[in-house]
Amino acid sequence: MIDIKKYLTTNFIGKNIEYYDTIESTNIKAKEIAGSSDEGTVVIAEEQTMGRGRLGRNWTSPKGKGLWFSIVLKPNINVDKVSKITLIGAAAVHKALKKLGIIPQIKWPNDIVIGGKKVCGILTEMVLQDENSYFVIMGIGINANLSEEDFPEELKDKATSLKIVKRAEIDRNKLLACVLNNFEELYVPFKENDDILEVIKISRENSILLNKEVRIIKGNIERTGKAIDIDSEGQLIVEYKDGKIEAILSGEVSVRGMEGYVDS
Ligand code: BTN
Repeated sequence: MIDIKKYLTTNFIGKNIEYYDTIESTNIKAKEIAGSSDEGTVVIAEEQTMGRGRLGRNWTSPKGKGLWFSIVLKPNINVDKVSKITLIGAAAVHKALKKLGIIPQIKWPNDIVIGGKKVCGILTEMVLQDENSYFVIMGIGINANLSEEDFPEELKDKATSLKIVKRAEIDRNKLLACVLNNFEELYVPFKENDDILEVIKISRENSILLNKEVRIIKGNIERTGKAIDIDSEGQLIVEYKDGKIEAILSGEVSVRGMEGYVDS
């Protein structure tokens, strides 16, 4: 059972919670209810039967073992700014894990990685509200208390959990509340003033990609370059072998490290 009320210090994130024992996907449910829900409503499930990852992948979401949740956001921003919300989510999770004594890395824009293995993924989706505006659904999956045997064979060398890393059971309530508290703190300046200064600082300082060789995959075009910065807009700056520099907006490409760490 997840019950976080006593740990929440937020004004609106998590004030309404829809809690499910089993659900197909919290993102799907959040999209369904977005129109009739307040901003900050959180959909949480103990288990997802059709948990979804980026690029049409599945997200393994066994019962009672992780944090599988989605936040309904109504930021009133242009579509081109939506990708910043993923970075805010990643920074909020990063801060929460640091508090647990873990120093993870962020694989721009949406993965949290420990020791080269993925521990958290973020799937941000948009729902059309009317002709000009969108709701945003940010779904976060954190592998909290999964054991080795909870991961399917093909993920065993790519994914890990906080319990495996810490060798101790994680208090999911405290962790979820901490992520939501951090998220609101970082989201409000963005929503009100388009300010993501702290988010960019966290993304840069903890990036697994910066100063590394990366493969940038757009459709069926693949190029190799070096990730040289995350700019103030949250774009990944890549320098290609021919000296050309490109600013990449999250969501439009798949970025892969060249050193064997997780791909997404
Ligand atoms: C990825 O790394 O590919 C993104 C994974 C996102 C998983 C979360 S779990 C809660 C929410 N509901 C879903 O179906 N997906 C997201």
